[in-house]
Amino acid sequence: MYNRRDFLVGATAAAAVLGLAACGGSGAGSGGPDTDAAPSDQTVGVAMPTQTYERWVADGNNIKKGLEEKGFTVDMQYADDDIPTQQQQIDQMVNKGVSALLIASIDGASLSSQLDAAAAAGIPVIAYDRLLTDSENVDFYVTFDNYKVGVNQANALLFGLGLLDEKFEKAADAPKGPLNVELFAGSLDDNNAHLFWKGAIDTLQPYFDDKTLAVPSGQMDIEQAATQRWEQETAQKRMENLLTTHYNGGEELAGVLAPADPLSRGIINALQNAGLGPTLEEGLPVVTGQDAEIASIKLIADGVQSSTIFKDTRQLAEQAIVAAESILKGEDPEANDTETYDNGVKVVPSYLLEVQMVLESNYKEILVDSGYYTEEQVKSGQL
Ligand code: BGC
Repeated sequence: MYNRRDFLVGATAAAAVLGLAACGGSGAGSGGPDTDAAPSDQTVGVAMPTQTYERWVADGNNIKKGLEEKGFTVDMQYADDDIPTQQQQIDQMVNKGVSALLIASIDGASLSSQLDAAAAAGIPVIAYDRLLTDSENVDFYVTFDNYKVGVNQANALLFGLGLLDEKFEKAADAPKGPLNVELFAGSLDDNNAHLFWKGAIDTLQPYFDDKTLAVPSGQMDIEQAATQRWEQETAQKRMENLLTTHYNGGEELAGVLAPADPLSRGIINALQNAGLGPTLEEGLPVVTGQDAEIASIKLIADGVQSSTIFKDTRQLAEQAIVAAESILKGEDPEANDTETYDNGVKVVPSYLLEVQMVLESNYKEILVDSGYYTEEQVKSGQL
């Protein structure tokens, strides 16, 4: 029997073939969305990586709320950090005929066939926070200035070590060194991890060159420093191994470059379990972070974690929605970077948001006074 659904699928496939032949299958180009449709007739598919980390839960909530306020229906799925699950979820969204896709990938290079299918069905794709790589079928990218995240992390480390003053200039009473540090990176399949690393290493390199900083483990390549899937436990284990292997003869560890708060907390656990600290004042090494997660803000307020980077996910969600609305109306979304994000096939037009370094001295101003967190949440370390 030929039911309506078969017909729609058949029609989409036929349109896809025509679209591909006509314009090479680029997202909004191949047929494209119905630019006259009202939001109330449109569903936006939102694919998110994991609910384990606070930041992705906040992102998801903000996106859903913002889209619903505009009248859209939202199909949001979390993939439990499992690539096949995310692939299936996106396949389903494409089959259902969503009007647009917002994707925060687990592995940026693993979704090519889903993106091809989306393009064939005329569904525009926006990469959310993480770049989708190795595919032509990405229409737009919203993210933060990821290189600057790394620069800020390195500067926060240098500040915590007393090498930079509060104006982030060379401190008058800077220690001579060499100060020992260890370096952690994120997941290699996340393009962001490479930019965070590059921003940080570019900033730290002069200090390695003049021997103000040393890395006793010698693990200075991103491959050696990487943390698969950004897992807290993996970072904690690596820190434990580094301590037993390279710091068992009284060598002093002064600081750790950590790329994200969950990893920072794993690293801090390892350090404290080895008898360091428990606070910075009591000799805990300086540990950086990212995402301003509430548990880490408590640690910063308590003088345990040294810094984090605040990325306002409310703004990112808003920007993603603005971009989706433009694409759905058949317009080009406003980009502020059309050079940086080469995904291996094309440079994806992007909108980058600014980030802020958070320290014990400014967390109140940035996060409490602005209403992002309450005093009570900071005190309890919970939302
Ligand atoms: C995000 C970071 C986050 C990390 C781990 C990156 O892609 O940009 O904000 O800490 O993933 O979830």
